Amino acid sequence: MKIDPAILYWGTPVVLISTLNPDGSANLAPMSSAFWLGHTAVLGLGTSSHTAGNLLRTRECVLNLPSEHQVDAVDRLALTTGANPVNAWKRLAGYHHLSNKFGAAGLEPITSSTVAAPRVAQCPVAMEATLTAVHTTEFHLLTVQIQDVHVHESIRLAGHANRIDPNRWRPLIMSFQSFYGLSEQVHPSRLASIDEEHYRR
Ligand SMILES: Cc1cc2nc3c(=O)[nH]c(=O)nc-3n(C[C@H](O)[C@H](O)[C@H](O)COP(=O)(O)O)c2cc1C
Repeated sequence: MKIDPAILYWGTPVVLISTLNPDGSANLAPMSSAFWLGHTAVLGLGTSSHTAGNLLRTRECVLNLPSEHQVDAVDRLALTTGANPVNAWKRLAGYHHLSNKFGAAGLEPITSSTVAAPRVAQCPVAMEATLTAVHTTEFHLLTVQIQDVHVHESIRLAGHANRIDPNRWRPLIMSFQSFYGLSEQVHPSRLASIDEEHYRR
């Protein structure tokens, strides 16, 4: 059956992206159009998003990955923007301006090591990143290079200094406009016969 969906959000992890506003305060925005290759990430952001403006100006950000346990905080940030005034499309959709997004979400900002934007203390993963390329069409497709990866001890794979335990990392997934967790592992993976260190550049 042929259909014409308005959105094609088939299910990707939620990212809370922190950037610095022109006055030095921090902005925080949920997004999920992101993918990763090596230590490069490609982010899809609306051209009117305040985050995109901050990222283009400062050329740095933190990509914080909430787990399913932070879903309430993420949902509190939905329908908000750091932009003031709020553009017509967002106003019609029910968005409002919010300047203190960390406070409103009940999340704690902590100092990053390589960028000025703060990390989110509660997120099990926080990746500090710098902007390396911009491709603008209908959206901004922003390529960033990951500089530093911070993780909570609780998701590290026992016995390995630099690996994540996928059985303990529970990403928050947005599928269309709804939140999900992951199920348990469904099948052994033949790709996993490759040592992760083989991918290191
Ligand atoms: C779970 C979730 C995922 C989202 N994913 C994206 C996305 O990938 N790209 C985007 O531009 N906006 C996305 N949005 C909408 C932005 O959060 C929204 O545009 C917000 O106003 C951005 O904040 P800012 O204007 O302060 O940057 C998402 C919202 C939610 C709640």
